[in-house]
Amino acid sequence: MNPQEAKARIEELSRLINHHNHLYYVLDRPEISDFEFDMLLEELIGLEKQFPHYVLPDSPTQRVGGAVTKSFASVKHRYPMLSLSNSYSEGEIMEFHQRVSKLLDEPAEYVCELKYDGVAISLRYEDGLLVQAVTRGDGTQGDDVTTNVKTIRSIPLKLTGDYPASFEIRGEIYLSRESFNRINEDREAEGLPLLANPRNAASGTLKMQDSAEVARRRLDCWLYYLMGENLPFETHYQSLQAAKSWGFRIASNMALCRTTDEILEFINDWKTGRYQLPFDIDGIVIKVNNFRQQQILGFTAKSPRWAIAYKYKAEEVATRLQSVSYQVGRTGTVTPVANLEPVLLAGTTVKRASLHNADIIAQLGLHENDMVVVEKGGEIIPKITSVKTEYRLQGAKAVSFIANCPECGSQLERNAGEAAWFCPNSDHCPPQIKGKLEHFIHRKAMNIESLGQGRIELLYDKGLVTTPADLYDLKAEQLLGLEKTYTGDDGKTRTVSFREKTVENILSAIEKSKEVPFGRVLFALGIRFVGETVASKLASAFGDIDRLAAAGFEQLTAVDEIGEKIAESVIEWFSRPEHRELVERLRAHGLKMENDQEPEHASNTLAGKTIVVSGVFSRFSRDEAHRLIEMHGGKNASSISAKTSFVLAGENMGPAKLEKARQLGIPILGEQEFLALIGQV
Ligand code: IVH
Repeated sequence: MNPQEAKARIEELSRLINHHNHLYYVLDRPEISDFEFDMLLEELIGLEKQFPHYVLPDSPTQRVGGAVTKSFASVKHRYPMLSLSNSYSEGEIMEFHQRVSKLLDEPAEYVCELKYDGVAISLRYEDGLLVQAVTRGDGTQGDDVTTNVKTIRSIPLKLTGDYPASFEIRGEIYLSRESFNRINEDREAEGLPLLANPRNAASGTLKMQDSAEVARRRLDCWLYYLMGENLPFETHYQSLQAAKSWGFRIASNMALCRTTDEILEFINDWKTGRYQLPFDIDGIVIKVNNFRQQQILGFTAKSPRWAIAYKYKAEEVATRLQSVSYQVGRTGTVTPVANLEPVLLAGTTVKRASLHNADIIAQLGLHENDMVVVEKGGEIIPKITSVKTEYRLQGAKAVSFIANCPECGSQLERNAGEAAWFCPNSDHCPPQIKGKLEHFIHRKAMNIESLGQGRIELLYDKGLVTTPADLYDLKAEQLLGLEKTYTGDDGKTRTVSFREKTVENILSAIEKSKEVPFGRVLFALGIRFVGETVASKLASAFGDIDRLAAAGFEQLTAVDEIGEKIAESVIEWFSRPEHRELVERLRAHGLKMENDQEPEHASNTLAGKTIVVSGVFSRFSRDEAHRLIEMHGGKNASSISAKTSFVLAGENMGPAKLEKARQLGIPILGEQEFLALIGQV
């Protein structure tokens, strides 16, 4: 492709991808498949690499991150970022309305909005381009987090329509509960401490140094406040509607209200309605709609007089403690759970509450059969906030933490300085074995996901699998027809079963897992503190499992980023005979216990040929296709140009690529033809 063509194609692709981004992330109305979208993005990434000087300032490739910020620059806000005064009762809303009415001497109209529970952000746009994103900081100056914010796909990098030349728009960056849970699931798999709630997670994510990691975490943003000089709008509501037409994802669920009754109705509707939202809110914001009126009302030192926040109190109710049970987690941590007399709270019946750890029980001074106050806050699981000692039954004994594991009887242990008790019997305690098996099959480890959703648990319960190596001995006859009904923590029952198709999928996933590279096998073994990144570092430093198993403390800590804690854990793990036996059994089954060799040279059939791979294949993955091409002397390219010798096309090849190949008259080979060409049929 000549530079002129490349420039035009880069512009076209950027525009197309930004358009489809907006359809997907802002309007929730996609027009092309994820696959087609990925193909467009891949083509753009390829072209930008070849012609970096044509990369546009609003290039959608910034969304995938990559840039690393060592420390965020501190930026002074052009307009201070104020907070809102809070209210907690209907009376305070009435007073607010009275104050406003008195100062204005004319009727006011209000906009009620959700109060998003995230991190405030101010976005600056110049000539339609996002130029700066700054956190609230102390209200006067905040951190420049532009690179990270650009990874948020609902935030437009370039505006469309009739936007002002220069303005700021403010809003809230947040994580949906789904994204938050996913992050925690991955952290659990890696043995990292869990994040407390979506707000803290969003705030931590925004300050991460590696923007590629930020992109993976899927932050999102609602915008609720437009600011600038001489903006041509009479009302707040109009300004947000205009912002919507420029491409912004503006606050959802707004209502225009004229009376306090209408405001209170909105507040009451969302009091329980909020639990149905996919993200957290902590209240309602009420704003005077008219900008002229806002100006008359003005500001106090801290907050505008034209707006107020109504904060939902965490709902609470008193109920009787029936008993305390103890759950042993995958890593052996013992968590106490309060079983309660069922009670209605925030629209659901609560029967259990987490007590977190022994220290919390002691702090509450919890006694048997106590009357306790249960609160439903931002978190999904309710918690006990206090004990009504005046209702304590005579002779009731204090709740004392158990000394032995309820699952295997081992004496519990506690590390100095840590609140949690744990069961040290990591290799033989049932929930810990199940935890290890679940970790082994995890998407990021051996990727045998078809055994998820309780199936691996069933295999364990039936005595078929007690160590990961047992998976590789499984036969179809043993699995077919297996079935069990479980009652979950939520009291609901579900049936786990193995039908023919499921069994086929499982066995082929188990077989395919033998191709998983050594680094991930190492991660799958579940050695304490050896997460995904550490595993891949160890794999490349030692090359194979025997050298790693033989490595001493000095050798281990000499590896970049391997500290004492990890080194000790690795040595301890390999010192146990049962672990060595596990490694040998897995090796005998053909799992990779060493790094892959560089692709060997097979032939010169494709020498001098430049090949573009597109679509999905049944006999090999795309990575394997690239490797096959190299093995036979060919060169891989990511975008089609006049220099392309042929396109290796699978199912679902992107329409843009297909069209391009046709235009340039480039041959398209299917999977079979390709294999025939390299003599592999
Ligand atoms: S308006 C001048 N609208 O709540 C005040 N704020 O204490 C401009 N918030 O710092 C803010 N949802 O982080 C506004 N719909 C909404 C909001 C909202 C959440 C946050 C924001 C602000 C804090 C106020």
